[in-house]
Amino acid sequence: PQKIIIDTDPGQDDAVAILLALASPELEVLGVVAVAGNVPLPLTEVNARKVVELSGRTDVPVFAGCATPLARPLVTAEHVHGKTGLDGIELPAPTLPLQAQDGVDFIVETLRREETGSVTLVPIGPLTNIAEAFRRAPDIITRVQQIVLMGGAYFEVGNITPAAEFNIYVDPEAAAEVFAAGVPLVVLPLDATHEAITSRDWVEGMRALPGRCGPAIASWTDFFERYDKEKYGSQGAPLHDPCTIAWLLRPDLFEGREINVEIETEGRWTMGMTVADWWRVSGRAANALFIRHLDRDGLFALLSERLARLP
Ligand code: BDR
Ligand code: CA
Repeated sequence: PQKIIIDTDPGQDDAVAILLALASPELEVLGVVAVAGNVPLPLTEVNARKVVELSGRTDVPVFAGCATPLARPLVTAEHVHGKTGLDGIELPAPTLPLQAQDGVDFIVETLRREETGSVTLVPIGPLTNIAEAFRRAPDIITRVQQIVLMGGAYFEVGNITPAAEFNIYVDPEAAAEVFAAGVPLVVLPLDATHEAITSRDWVEGMRALPGRCGPAIASWTDFFERYDKEKYGSQGAPLHDPCTIAWLLRPDLFEGREINVEIETEGRWTMGMTVADWWRVSGRAANALFIRHLDRDGLFALLSERLARLP
């Protein structure tokens, strides 16, 4: 199976991404590393442990990484995800322990231990841990197989400012370093993920699953959809983060272009913007596969089939 490390700030959509990965035998989740983002780190690491425990995969270690962005105070998104970051269903306090090792050190050590080019990083929160790992151990950069991340926006512009998507906005310095690192990048921006909107039927299908995970997923998306319904008039909840895992499983469901993407770290109005050279007008070399569209029916069929395998 494909080895991956999930770097995450759960987050209801992060939670679904983690469950999708754990339900997929093509993927071997070496670890889940929490980062500060949607809510502060003490909450995201607990949420990560709750989700892994819910899946029954308590063999998967959970770590805590960075508590603050590289160069700025943390900006959070309780207005989207609720006070806990994972509002929707009250899950018991996890018994799965937090690993004692620092999450960034875990990323470094894992990349050094595993064969070069065999580990894919899947960041679905701010890019702080990944950038910090590259700073601490530049030798690991060429060992990364690829980075498949949720972040950015171009035609869909921003969700936290008019120009910026949340994950990039929270730590633009980290994002700039990761995008410049020379690692093959697959970017799932809002342009694609705003097409991954749940339908009522799909959510009710989850709720009707016999195990404990389906109803939890339904309760998360019920909570999460309120914000997008009000804000954008969406019909349901956007499953941003699961798109990364779905891309690993079924890249044929997605459509994008190899282009140059630069991160704005200074703009007065545009800080955190992913300046995506979709029309290739800059002459700058491509550094990312920037996904623009996805097959919504195909994606939700995949999600249903996989998530139904969970306890
Ligand atoms: C991203 O920000 C977070 O709120 C979501 O979990 C997702 O990773 C969407 O902009
Ligand atoms: Ca996230």
